[in-house]
Amino acid sequence: MKIIALYSPKGGVGKSVTSVNLSYLLSADGKKTLLWDFDPQGASSFYFQVEQELSKKIEDIFTEKKSLRKSITKTQYANLFVLPSDFSFRNLDLIIDAMKKPIKKLKNTISEVNDYDFLIIDSPPGFTNLNKLISKISDTILVPVIPTYLSLRTLDKLKFFMDSIGVNNEKIFPFFSMADRRKKLHRQIIEEKIGEFEIKTVIPYSAEIEKMGETLLPVPLFSKNKRLIEIYHNLKQEIIDNA
Ligand SMILES: Nc1ncnc2c1ncn2[C@@H]1O[C@H](COP(=O)(O)OP(=O)(O)OP(=O)(O)O)[C@@H](O)[C@H]1O
Ligand SMILES: [Mg+2]
Repeated sequence: MKIIALYSPKGGVGKSVTSVNLSYLLSADGKKTLLWDFDPQGASSFYFQVEQELSKKIEDIFTEKKSLRKSITKTQYANLFVLPSDFSFRNLDLIIDAMKKPIKKLKNTISEVNDYDFLIIDSPPGFTNLNKLISKISDTILVPVIPTYLSLRTLDKLKFFMDSIGVNNEKIFPFFSMADRRKKLHRQIIEEKIGEFEIKTVIPYSAEIEKMGETLLPVPLFSKNKRLIEIYHNLKQEIIDNA
C-alpha cells in the first residue's frame, strides 16, 4: 500500500478537493483506495457524504487494528472507502502528545489495511504534531502550491519543517494549484518554478472545482469541462508514475 498525504501549512490551497478527485480517480482505475480525513473541518468526508462521527475513540483507532477497520466507511463508489473526520480531531495534537511512540503505533495499526492499494490522507493546515505524524508515516507528501511568492515561501517553510523532524525532502512533491492564467504573476511564477517541480500538471483556478461543494461529486462525474477532467487524470497519472 502506498500512503500519500495532501499537506500544506497554508489553508485553502486545494488539499481537500485534490484528495477527493485523486481518491476517486484511483478507485475508478480499480485501485482499492482509502481516504483518511484527518481534518476536524471534515471537508473530504462532506464531499463523499459520509457521516462525520466515529464510533471509536481516535486513541483506539491509532492503536487497535480492529477499531481502525471498524471505522472505515463505504462510499457510493466501488473500491473507494473513507475513514471519516470527527470533531474530536480538533484535540488530536494533545492526544498525540500524550501518547507513547505514536508514529510506531500508527504505522503498526495501518499495516492492518495493507490490502488497500492507496491510502490518501487529507491533512489539516499547520505545523502541528499531527502534521508531523502524518508526514512521518507517509511515503509521499503532495503539496498544492498557489503560484504566488507567499505560497512559494510556505513551501520553503514546509521543507524546513520536514528537515527539522527528519523527513526526507525527496518525499515532497509540490504541484501548482488554483493557477489563474489571466494573472501575469501566476504565469510568471509557474514558468520560473515548474522546472523544479517533478509534477508538471497545473490545476487551474476553475469555478467547476468550486461547484463540488454543491454537487457533492468528484469533478470527473459532473463537469462538462473535458480539459479539466483530463488535467485531473494527468495529475493522477504523474503521481502514480513519479511520486
Ligand atoms: N482549483 C480551484 N479552483 C477554484 N476553486 C478551488 C480550487 N481548488 C480549491 N478551490 C476552492 O477553494 C476552497 C478551498 O479548497 P480546499 O478545501 O480543497 O482547500 P484546503 O487546502 O483543503 O483548505 P483547508 O486548509 O481549509 O483544509 C474550496 O471552497 C474549494 O472549492
Ligand atoms: Mg482541507
